[in-house]
Formats: sequence, C-alpha cells, structure tokens
Amino acid sequence: MSAIIISGKELAKEKREQMKGKVKQLGGKGVVPGLAVILVGSDPASQSYVRSKQKACKEIGIHSELEELPETVSEKELLQKIHALNNAPHIHGILVQLPLPKHISEKAVIETIDPAKDVDGFHPINIGRMMTGQEAFLPCTPFGIVEMIKAQQIDIEGKHVVVVGRSNIVGKPVGQLLLNENATVTYCHSRTKNMKQHTKAADILVVAVGKAHFLNREYIKDGAVVIDVGVNRTEEGKLVGDVDFESAKETASHITPVPGGVGPMTITMLLHNTIISAERTLR
Ligand code: GUN
Repeated sequence: MSAIIISGKELAKEKREQMKGKVKQLGGKGVVPGLAVILVGSDPASQSYVRSKQKACKEIGIHSELEELPETVSEKELLQKIHALNNAPHIHGILVQLPLPKHISEKAVIETIDPAKDVDGFHPINIGRMMTGQEAFLPCTPFGIVEMIKAQQIDIEGKHVVVVGRSNIVGKPVGQLLLNENATVTYCHSRTKNMKQHTKAADILVVAVGKAHFLNREYIKDGAVVIDVGVNRTEEGKLVGDVDFESAKETASHITPVPGGVGPMTITMLLHNTIISAERTLR
C-alpha cells in the first residue's frame, strides 16, 4: 500500500491565505508586521533560504528588510545591529540566518535578540517557556511539523514518537513539542545503538539528521507516520530527504515529501510568529 503524502506546500498555501487577512486587519489598526533578516557571508544555501523568506513576507504583506553583512564582520558590529533592531518599533521579528562564521558566537547572537522579537524561537527564554508549556515563540520547523500532523487529524496523544537527530533547531525542540502534546518520545542520535530497533517501534518517526536517504522502509513500522526534515542535494543536483521516499512510502501510512513537505511549513510558521509579535504590540 502506498502512503498518504502530507503536502506541506498545500497546507502552507492555505495558512498563508488566512494570514493575508490577518495582516490586512492589523493594517487597519495602523500596524504593519515587520521582519528583519540578517545574513552574514555568502553561503548559497543561506542566501536561497533568506530569499524565500523575504518573498513569502512580501506575498502576504509583511514588511521585510534584509541586512547583508560580509563574512568578515565583527561580532561586536553584528551585536550592535541586533541592538538597533531590538529598539526599532517597526520591526516585530528579528532573524539571524544560521550558521554564522566561526569567529562569531551563535550563543551571543541569539541571546542578544530581544526574546519578544525572537521569531525563530531560539532564545533560551523562549526555549525555557516552550519546555514549561508557557506561551512562547516556537521554533519554526518543529512548530510546522506539529501543525502538519494535526492538519492530517492524526492523534498525537499516547503515540510513540521517535526523533532521529538532536539538533537545537529541530531534533530537540520537535521532541519537546510532541511531548507537550502527550506523546511518548524517544530520541536517537549518532551514538544510539540498535537504531533500527528504536525507529521500528515508532508510531510517528521524525528524521532530522541531514544525510541523504539515511533511512529506508526497513527502519519503519507498517502504518507509521514519517516526517522527513532533511534537505540534501545529491551529486546529480536533486533535492532529497533523509528518508528514502520511494521505499518508505510502501510501508508508512503518511509521509512528507522533499521538497514540498516540511520546508514550506518552516517559512509559514516564521510568518505566523511575526504576525503574532506584531499583534502583541496592540495588547
Ligand atoms: N538555518 C537553518 N535553519 C534556520 C532557521 O530556521 N532559522 C535561522 N535563523 N537559521 C537557520
């Protein structure tokens, strides 16, 4: 049997249509949501992500501005830019595209962003709030994954979720968000022994390791929901996920494709967080 394909692209489109209405409403109250993006250096993948984020903002009426800084910019100068944006009333969200050059501390950068404008949800204050179930900006990829699962009306409560990968941006927080939804969560990572034994037990399997075709159907229980967060380019230039899609779709009940799965939802939740931040200025 072939799995139901969860189209992040379609869900993102629906959500962005709804957001257009929200942005219009805010405009009527004199508030235009504003997102500032800082890009350091000229990594082509980061440039492409940043372009997509800006395009998405424009399409729904969010003001966006891009600050491009050279690879050689000092940490001090970058932190000064962030301070200026923290104090800019027309900016409701600040995003510093990661990764950063080695001479700049990601920790210092993230902690300088005002938690009230941290639409990436990376600031320790937002992470702590998320972990304790308080209102917080949720990190966009994990947030988008939960939205995709819920939109398929898949029950999360009581399910065994296995997350493969433990990055601060995806693996760790997606497990936490699914725990907040009352799932039982197992994390697998590079030091995990008998990986297959764990992944085979998953009702919902989230794979975020950044390695092309890391898993195939042999790692997946019949009828499992498979969420593939990987975006990898093969030698032939094709975009593929961490899961061997053709193999996995024969055993999963639902599966996200790459491209068109998790990716469009990440940007959508960034737009969502920026709108929420703008709305808060009216409270
Ligand atoms: N680099 C890869 N993913 C992300 C993301 O979600 N936010 C930021 N700021 N940088 C990233």
